[in-house]
Amino acid sequence: MTEVAPRPAPPPVDPGFGVYVHWPFCKAKCPYCDFNSHVRHSPPDQARFVAAFRAEIAHTRQRIGQRRTQSVFFGGGTPSLMDPATVGAILEAIDTAWPLDARAEVTLEANPTSVEAGRFRGYRAAGVNRVSLGVQALDDAALKALGRMHTAQEALGAVAVARAAFERVSFDLIYARPDQKPEDWAAELKRAIDEGCEHLSLYQLTIEDGTPFAALHRAGRLIVPDGDAARALWDVTQETTLAAGLPAYEISNHARPGAESRHNLLYWRYGEYAGVGPGAHGRLDTPEGRVATSTERGPEEWVARVEQAGHGVIVDERLSRAEQADEYLLMGLRLTEGIDRARFARLAGRDLDATHFATLLAEGLIEELPGERLRATAIGLPVLDAIVADLAA
Ligand SMILES: C[S@@+](CC[C@H](N)C(=O)[O-])C[C@H]1O[C@@H](n2cnc3c(N)ncnc32)[C@H](O)[C@@H]1O
Ligand code: SF4
Repeated sequence: MTEVAPRPAPPPVDPGFGVYVHWPFCKAKCPYCDFNSHVRHSPPDQARFVAAFRAEIAHTRQRIGQRRTQSVFFGGGTPSLMDPATVGAILEAIDTAWPLDARAEVTLEANPTSVEAGRFRGYRAAGVNRVSLGVQALDDAALKALGRMHTAQEALGAVAVARAAFERVSFDLIYARPDQKPEDWAAELKRAIDEGCEHLSLYQLTIEDGTPFAALHRAGRLIVPDGDAARALWDVTQETTLAAGLPAYEISNHARPGAESRHNLLYWRYGEYAGVGPGAHGRLDTPEGRVATSTERGPEEWVARVEQAGHGVIVDERLSRAEQADEYLLMGLRLTEGIDRARFARLAGRDLDATHFATLLAEGLIEELPGERLRATAIGLPVLDAIVADLAA
């Protein structure tokens, strides 16, 4: 049985505050992807978007007041289609609203084409200090099957440019692809690790409703490893990364100790974050309590709404104590550092369900850690939703 990562140091008490910025455009739509990403024949008017981002940031500032920003994440879509000046202007607006901490982590998600790599130095100059590249595979046939617009060599070229421009570089790979054998995946993963990056996101291919892959899957024309085959690929992933000094710190994320993504940790530690841009989600601590926000998904509709109302928020719901406690469990149990039982009790106003807790422990699905913490075990992680439902009962 594969171990999850070794016991990590306990997390800080205050998970901090971050800002998520969504850039909703892509050059082409990948057939597996259901993110809020749109392809347009003519490029968007970036100045108009900058003005809308400024307005939405100022609106959120008014709502929640002062904060210090520990992390910013430009996600997409394809943020590497933004002009560096656009990124710089949005960072400036964030810094005006909630000053960036001197050591703030500022990440930009980039597609690994040579055109985009040409903008990396501009992003660095604009204030980005970490990039996350969507390499997806190091095999040209697999990249073609995933509908990607780059070869493996081009992607590795972009990784090299990124490493020259940024101290902190991560890249994404998708595994559990059709017909993928554990030994082939192990070799591909070792090659990826040899690139020497401090962080890797390794996602099992999921079939998302409404995508071209879902239609092929339904028709029996795209078969992905499941059950034992998926489990064998997962085991290879854990063993290979652990041996290379990049243990998992979350279900799909691996890092050298200390090189974890601070922004993603903020989500999983259930910290506070503002989400700006089309289809962005936020969790804000307001005078009325914690609220869940989300914005209009359509890019043009979002801009129009912001121009008219000063923000694009269409959902703004106060979360009950029970909802917050459930969210904390769902996010925190993804982490190898697990959750703090006392924090759960403070959020929920009660302790975890004792009977379910004992049963899950006896079944080996969760384990206790020092300091009143608990986490999902290697056999618990694949059934996390069921564990959360039991613990929250
Ligand atoms: C929001 S996407 C953006 C990244 C960037 N646009 C790119 O494609 O390189 C973030 C990551 O989610 C992962 N992803 C998206 N859809 C997925 C799916 N159906 N299964 C597994 N991973 C997926 C990919 O690894 C991708 O790099
Ligand atoms: S995977 Fe990335 S490039 Fe492809 S459609 Fe999704 S967001 Fe766009």
